Amino acid sequence: MVKETYLVPVTGETLEEQVMNYLIAFGKQTVFCHLKEVASQAQLLAEQFGLDKSAAYQAGLLHDISVVIPDEERVGFQNELGTIILQAERHLPQLLHQQQSAVIAERCFGVTEPAILSAIVCHTTLKEAATDFDHCLFIADKIKWDRTRKPPYLTEVCEALAAGELQRASLIYLEWLFHHDIQVIHPWALAAKKQLTQSLKVL
Ligand SMILES: [Fe+2]
Ligand SMILES: [Fe+2]
Repeated sequence: MVKETYLVPVTGETLEEQVMNYLIAFGKQTVFCHLKEVASQAQLLAEQFGLDKSAAYQAGLLHDISVVIPDEERVGFQNELGTIILQAERHLPQLLHQQQSAVIAERCFGVTEPAILSAIVCHTTLKEAATDFDHCLFIADKIKWDRTRKPPYLTEVCEALAAGELQRASLIYLEWLFHHDIQVIHPWALAAKKQLTQSLKVL
């Protein structure tokens, strides 16, 4: 069973220690820096938009925790959970990492808060009717993306955030994604883009 390898008890006093220990067990400790950066950014956005700062920090620390699962094992892991796999996810199993991070957050780290789990589940693609808390983690991850160059959409996203437009910030990123960096169209991202385009047009 693939899932028995990854759904294991965690050790450590604080969530940070637990996350680090879990990553170390799979040789993925270098990812901790990205998790911490996204957690801090999500906390800042939560403060700006009147959301739960502590929950945002926890969501950030755990959003990519399934990095420990190699992409070639993701479909097997999902099958063992009995969860439906979308065509886009079958084509690009890395897309499953958002849902699998939520599973690990819940089963290994004991996260029960639905808002945290929801935000982790859609942190890569977003989804239709996303909450402000979902947007908060989504956009924090895009501001602190795990590539070396500066995100090309960063200035525009930050301008939208400075104007208090969290949803517009997400739409700016999604528009950039669909025009520049998309490998597979995930239906959740498409639905989110459509809905945000419509709802922000009428404002
Ligand atoms: Fe991710
Ligand atoms: Fe990430």
